[in-house]
Amino acid sequence: MDLQQLKETKIAALTEASACADLDAVEAVRVRYLGRKGLLPDIMRSLKDIPNEEKATFGQTANALKNELSEALDIRKKELRAAETGTSDEFFDYTLPGQWRGWGTAHPISQIIDRVADIFATIGFTLADGPDIEDEFHNFDALNTPGDHPSRDMHDTFYLDSGELLRTHTSPGQIRYMENAPPPIRILVPGRCYRRDTEDATHSANFHQVEGLYVNERVSMAELKGDLTYFARQIIGNRAEVRFRPHFFPFTEPSVEVDFTCHVCANQPTPKGCRVCKESGWIEIAGAGMVDPNVFKAVGYNPDEVAGYAFGMGIERIAMIMLEIDDIRRLYENDVRFLSQF
Ligand code: DAH
Repeated sequence: MDLQQLKETKIAALTEASACADLDAVEAVRVRYLGRKGLLPDIMRSLKDIPNEEKATFGQTANALKNELSEALDIRKKELRAAETGTSDEFFDYTLPGQWRGWGTAHPISQIIDRVADIFATIGFTLADGPDIEDEFHNFDALNTPGDHPSRDMHDTFYLDSGELLRTHTSPGQIRYMENAPPPIRILVPGRCYRRDTEDATHSANFHQVEGLYVNERVSMAELKGDLTYFARQIIGNRAEVRFRPHFFPFTEPSVEVDFTCHVCANQPTPKGCRVCKESGWIEIAGAGMVDPNVFKAVGYNPDEVAGYAFGMGIERIAMIMLEIDDIRRLYENDVRFLSQF
């Protein structure tokens, strides 16, 4: 074998090594080239017949054949084993460029909660938290909701075997905060709520509310309306108005339902009504009222010394209205194509 043939043999050997289809083939190539009766020992023996001026190059090439081939066979062996066991970690190339998957975005529910919290923060409200698993006392009794109130019915509330329940609203957050802190209080409690509701375009067994509570020596209904109007103008625009409709909640007296002027037609010169507000010009946003004296008693406050307002709003509802989403279920399907629009 001369030098030219040796170089060709080397290329052929490396090509064969990388093409081996299984471990037997790898072993066969090794034996044929590197084995005791293989080609390489033959090549070494033919060194003595090589002309002197080529000897050095021939020897180096033969060595390279030996080293590179055994390395190539090792690599092929590992590749085949990895393919067999499904583990490819040994061959993960950390220098490969990653796959671009796009920026993530905050979920619309989180965006609305953040926005509401930011706005109320400018008038002194801080965030508070409460547990998703509540007891009857915090979810109902302390909120002046007597044992026979319909909202305590099994049909509305998810009860746990322990006798605890999944909170049906964020209002227990008021109780927990007041139990642990003296007035004055200005808090927002955002959180997930649970009710035995059948799902449809506007109902979900799982939804979010933001609770607001302001307690001080003297707090008036006018402040409630003023603060909610400030909030409405921040979130909808300067033309927004707020209206109160009389209502009943066990934990407030008097109680109101709160409507905002429709954000779609509110910023137009003459609010007329549109599809979003069902031609009424108003959208129901929250329940609210003046904290019932019984609630203060339940947390150990003296109702003669303090007053307060409270409100609770549904986040999905605000998200659906502000972002013009027509089906609440879209918010829970986690379809990134849908969510990344916001
Ligand atoms: N907790 C009520 C609900 O889930 C909403 C609510 C109404 C909260 C009036 C309040 C309030 O704080 O004052 O429907």
